[in-house]
Formats: sequence, C-alpha cells, structure tokens
Amino acid sequence: GQVRRRETPWWHAPEQREQLLALAQAGTPHYAYHLPTVRARARALAAISAIDRRFYAIKANSHPHILRTLVEEGFGLECVSQAELERVLREVPALAMDDILFTPSFAPRSEYAFALDRGVNVTLDNVEALQRWGELFQGRAIWLRVDLGRGDGHHEKVNTGGKASKFGLPLARLPEFVNLAQRLQVRIVGLHAHLGSGVETPQHWRQVCDELGGIAEQIGSIETIDIGGGLPIPYTADDEPFDLEAWGAGLEEIKAAYPGYQLAIEPGRFLVAESGVLLSRVTQVVDKQGIRRVGTDAGMNALMRPALYDAWHDVANLSRLADHQQDYFDVVGPICESSDVFGKRRPLPAATSEGDVLLFADAGAYGFSMANQYNLRALPVEAIIDGGGQAEVRAGVAQADVVAR
Ligand code: LLP
Repeated sequence: GQVRRRETPWWHAPEQREQLLALAQAGTPHYAYHLPTVRARARALAAISAIDRRFYAIKANSHPHILRTLVEEGFGLECVSQAELERVLREVPALAMDDILFTPSFAPRSEYAFALDRGVNVTLDNVEALQRWGELFQGRAIWLRVDLGRGDGHHEKVNTGGKASKFGLPLARLPEFVNLAQRLQVRIVGLHAHLGSGVETPQHWRQVCDELGGIAEQIGSIETIDIGGGLPIPYTADDEPFDLEAWGAGLEEIKAAYPGYQLAIEPGRFLVAESGVLLSRVTQVVDKQGIRRVGTDAGMNALMRPALYDAWHDVANLSRLADHQQDYFDVVGPICESSDVFGKRRPLPAATSEGDVLLFADAGAYGFSMANQYNLRALPVEAIIDGGGQAEVRAGVAQADVVAR
C-alpha cells in the first residue's frame, strides 16, 4: 500500500526558526513547546468517537501551559505522584476532581490518603495495599489496574506488563481482590491496563479493550474501561504516522460488544512529543581517530531518552540551514559518562562549529520531565510558543543555585 509520511515539523517554517534562534539567546539548553501542535494532536484524538474520556498522562510534560491547553481541549489529567497532583490542583484549579486520575506505582500510604481526600479517581494495582490500608479505602470507589500477562512498547524499559513487570494485579489474584473489596465495601468502578509506551500497532488497544471488557463483565460494578496510553509518534522520517482511524475503528467494534461502559485513554507522548524541541549550543567540534564529534551544552541530563533507550531524535543545525555541504558527526553532550551520546553519524553542515544552535526534534514528551542535574548541570530553560505571538520563557534552575545547594 501507499506509505504515509509524517507531516513537516512546525519548526521548519522560517519564522519559527528565527524565533527559536532568538530564544536560544536567552540561554541553552532550552526547551520550546509549540501549543498549536499540542492542540492539533488533542483534536485528532477528540475526533475518535469510540473514546468517551480522555486523560493526559502529565508525566510526559507537566509544564503549566501544556496542562491548561489540554484541559481547554477537554482532557482530564492523569497523575502518578502527589507532586503531580499538587501541580494540577495548583495550575488548573477549575478542573473537576472526576477528571483527575491518580495511577501511582508503589506509592506510600500518605499519597493515596492525599488523593482520596481530594476526591480524585484513585487506581490500585495490588491486593496488599487493600489489605494493609483497608480503613483508608473502606466505602470508597476505586479503579483497578490489571496485568494482562504481557507487555509491549518501543523498548524493554517501557514495557509495563507480564511477570517481570512491577505493574498491575495479575488476573490470578482478581478473585482475592474482588472479595476483599466487597468486604470493605469498596466499589471497583474503573478497570485499567497500560501495557507499554510507544506501541506501533493499532490492534494492540483493540485486544486490550476486548480483554478488559470480559473482566469488567465478571466484576459487575465497572463504569469506565481505561485502555491506557502508549500511542507512538513518528520519530524518524521513515516511521509511518500512527493510523488513528484504524485505531478508532477497531475500538468501535469492541465497544459494540460491551455496551454500557465509558471507554477511556491516557496518552502522554502522542499529545506533546512533536510540539517540543530542545535547543543547545555547540561547545566543541573534535576529530578523534577518524570520528568527528560535535559537542553540545545539552547532555543526557537535559534529554535522557537516547542514553536510556537508544531513542532517536532528529538533529538540525539552526545556525546553518542554508548550508548544504554535509558531513557526518557523532553528536554528544558534556556529561562525563559514555552514554552521553545523542546520535552517531548524523548528517550536519560540514562547517558546524562552536556557538551554533543545534535543535533536537520531538523532545516535548519525556524531555524536560526526565531532566536532572547530573554533573551539577542546570535544568534547561523552557519556553512556550503560541501561534505568532511572543514566546513566554520560564527560567530553568539557575546554574548558580545548582552550585550553591
Ligand atoms: N498511563 C500509564 C499508566 C503509564 O505508565 C504511562 C507511561 C502512560 C499512561 C503514558 O504513556 P505514553 O502515552 O506517553 O506512551 N520515558 C519513556 C516513556 C515511559 C512511559 C511511562 N508510562 C520514554 O521516553 O519513552
């Protein structure tokens, strides 16, 4: 069949490139998020009629403007820590508690207590929490996360199902969970599974939905079936964009077999990855035994995905776009660790040199949110770009504060 191509990234437009170069003047490493792209992805998902409830997994990017934009687009928010809940309550105070989902993993009792107190939807994924903290959950409605016995995803480190994974109640313990819940007058109203991140096949969710539908029928009290997040984005020019229509059509079929449930999703990456770029400046260009390396002031501390998952991010030199004479470089950061490599043999202008602004593409998801201060490097600056207007810049943690702490 015909190969579908990903769309031209927003930052290819000349005026956007000018704006990004100006932003880099305010300091690098520097993330910039393009809100029109976030809105476009949100609307593409909202158009899928099979989905009744949409939550955004804020771990992907919890910048206040991103949260507000997605809430304006009709999304609820999924949180995995008390701090994420507090960020949401602070930045989007008007959001209804029923539009917030708390899906932690091995969280302390105090975090469940905080969430239950606020009245958000709370997900449990093991029997032990119910056994030990029965009085906390007594008389409440909760959601249950199950392990369907297998996982999926772009890398083994983002696979969240099966025996080797710490997530989810194995189905063999479902009767035990349901009995204990009954004794405590706990109503299980949501049923959830998330098998992994960056799953390429639309049929994945159809299958998950089918299995959850069957389990919901057994439990009897379920109102919402949540088939997780995990939708991929095309990181390379060869990746085909995710087929949302095929995805929605598959879900529609399954839904018809299990009427009476609200179908929910909780994507992170799909909504924000393509909206974000990471700007950095070239520090040194070095030739070592036939390998040419371009070093940047952004390292694995600023964007961990390549070091952690061998993830691909396109790299462009914004300072030399008209320069068509290319050479191949390994792109590395300033961190004293061998995994501090963004890409090998990447084509860049041959004249690339100190001070040039390099852009790492598709860094809006799991970029800043996983950044850290290893080697006492400061956290990146973040900016919001909305249409033609002025960018709003949010300072990172100042380098001086990292040193003084
Ligand atoms: N729901 C649950 C329960 C999750 O654990 C996750 C992601 C999501 C939803 C959202 O998944 P998404 O739609 O973004 O794939 N740092 C990795 C991804 C880790 C995902 C963790 N859980 C990466 O950069 O690829």
